[in-house]
Amino acid sequence: MNKNVLIISASGRKGGNSDLLCDQFAKGAREAGHNVEKIRLAEKNIGYCTGCYACQKLHKCCQKDDANELVEKMLSADVIVLATPVYFYSMNAQLKALIDRTVSRWDDFGRFGGTEFWHIITAADENREMMDATLAGLRGFMRDCMEGSVERGVIYGTGAYEKGAVVKLPVYQEAYELGKTA
Ligand SMILES: Cc1cc2nc3c(=O)[nH]c(=O)nc-3n(C[C@H](O)[C@H](O)[C@H](O)COP(=O)(O)O)c2cc1C
Repeated sequence: MNKNVLIISASGRKGGNSDLLCDQFAKGAREAGHNVEKIRLAEKNIGYCTGCYACQKLHKCCQKDDANELVEKMLSADVIVLATPVYFYSMNAQLKALIDRTVSRWDDFGRFGGTEFWHIITAADENREMMDATLAGLRGFMRDCMEGSVERGVIYGTGAYEKGAVVKLPVYQEAYELGKTA
């Protein structure tokens, strides 16, 4: 079955480590016949959720930026890949800002039942456990807030500090292979 795969790359660095793992995953998923769209948050304008709850009446956010369109894409994707570098033991602010803005469609989170999720995380540290807090944040959103969503896998880019360092690590090939299984 051809799936709609939405890859959300939060790295501020085009060609950064998590961004490159997104490209590898995308390459594999395209080869497997899926429709793949990759979005770099750095190229989008996404403000912070202000908690105004205007969305409870409007069923969309009243801010005029790129978040509404992105949230709609998330709602209609079969597969969502969330990719972030670790910034001080957490996902980066770019990804968190988008996740917070999905609250505008909170009433429709039931539509995420069956949506498959992959997580891509990169960090300088070589210890995978140091990514636990980042993963917990991603899972809190995906697994605890979106009933029926399915976690397909986590791609750990540990020991990747300099831009592009991930190319020399086994995870670079692994991301491509996992993309083929999307
Ligand atoms: C603001 C900032 C905070 C970071 N915090 C951590 C950290 O807590 N632990 C860690 O191992 N690496 C940390 N790093 C390093 C990045 O996670 C690492 O370089 C990652 O591969 C960057 O991914 P990217 O190239 O996709 O942006 C930090 C980098 C920045 C810029």
